[in-house]
Amino acid sequence: MAHLIAPSVLSCDFANIQRDVEMINNSTADWFHVDIMDGVFVPNMSFGFPVIKAINKHATKPLDVHLMIVNPDQYIQQFADAGSDILTVHYEACPHLHRTVQAIKAAGMKAGVALNPHTSVDLLENVINDIDMVLIMSVNPGFGGQKFIQNACEKVKQVKALREKYNTDILIEVDGGVNLDTGKQLLDAGANVLVAGSFVFNSDNPTETITRLKSI
Ligand code: DX5
Ligand code: ZN
Repeated sequence: MAHLIAPSVLSCDFANIQRDVEMINNSTADWFHVDIMDGVFVPNMSFGFPVIKAINKHATKPLDVHLMIVNPDQYIQQFADAGSDILTVHYEACPHLHRTVQAIKAAGMKAGVALNPHTSVDLLENVINDIDMVLIMSVNPGFGGQKFIQNACEKVKQVKALREKYNTDILIEVDGGVNLDTGKQLLDAGANVLVAGSFVFNSDNPTETITRLKSI
């Protein structure tokens, strides 16, 4: 399949959120990547339900919501109600990951599991058949604009091997420090969804930058 591009709205201009959402609607992007940070799981806070609902009101493409929060279970229904299509939780934040994944799917969303840079891919072996997507973090989560961690390419290859071993069609998404160069490396390794925040929104022409990422 052609790879998907998910611009991260964390890097958008929040005073002009409708304008930036419409830019993504009118671009070749596939999804909206929506980062939720609680100041506990990661050392930063982003935004909550009112902002997700505001994005969803204007968005014409799926919302790919990345939860960087502890205890995600208690909010699953609220994320569904706010318009999330794909809900990704962190392996490191979920002591009962299998239950969390089932609850996400029962709420009508696709389920993703994210791995921090230090977390081994093989820990997913017993849940790989239950999930729709693996999100490999190529930075330590919490901030946009960080430097790409090269080991992410190796981890993408490991997820691809796991996918083949279990004959599933899970998506492999990568998040953090993605640009044309790192994006190419990740696609060569087997990734099929690229998240990009600062590379898109700090560029002179975000629409064109999205098309360039889509055309790698
Ligand atoms: C980081 C977030 C990312 C972030 C990526 O914790 O999960 O989605 O927006 O930003 P860039 O592309 O600037 O690294
Ligand atoms: Zn993210």
